[in-house]
Amino acid sequence: MGTYAGAMTLTDMVLTDRVEDLLAGPVPLPIVAAGDPVLRRRAEPYDWSLPPDLFTALIGAMRATMRAAPGVGLAAPQVGLGIQLAVLEDPAAVPADTAAVRGRSPLPFRVLVNPSYRPVDDTVAAFYEGCLSVPGYQAVVERAGAVRLTGFDETGAALNEIVTGWAARIVAHESDHLAGMLYLDKALSRSLTDNENYSRRWAAPTPQQARVELGF
Ligand code: CO
Repeated sequence: MGTYAGAMTLTDMVLTDRVEDLLAGPVPLPIVAAGDPVLRRRAEPYDWSLPPDLFTALIGAMRATMRAAPGVGLAAPQVGLGIQLAVLEDPAAVPADTAAVRGRSPLPFRVLVNPSYRPVDDTVAAFYEGCLSVPGYQAVVERAGAVRLTGFDETGAALNEIVTGWAARIVAHESDHLAGMLYLDKALSRSLTDNENYSRRWAAPTPQQARVELGF
């Protein structure tokens, strides 16, 4: 894994062409919004077919796009590429009490290739989250408090680790994108709020009051 094979298939050439076209445009890259079928298809496992420099440039452009948005994760389908690749980074710029309750601490930049995850226990965390492809809104999603993450990093090194707290939420959210899912598929729909109401009413560390007043 992780080495450039040299011999490209037609499909690989299509991917290379598509990435070259994408990176020929401005960065931050345009983010695909809900309603585009690319967000609803299972992304193809990445086969390491991109020339290494192009793969590195793609990751850099995705990182810049995530930071500019700003967001804490970005999956390749969100920039129109149906491959199993995502970038994550969380500066955890929230008040200390919120960070403590949500298990949120700074997550250094990292890349996931062909990731999958599964819950490691029965703990469930219910918090508001949002998505760059569903701008303007947030909703509560009940997610596993801890997950086992497998897959690969950008060098091709295998991943097999337990991820907890807010980072587990990010891993699950981005991995779900690669399976054609949006967070709204799993959200408690009555919790839906626009960002203005979230900031004004529901930004408490837990969604307990929102649960009472919105009825979810
Ligand atoms: Co998202």
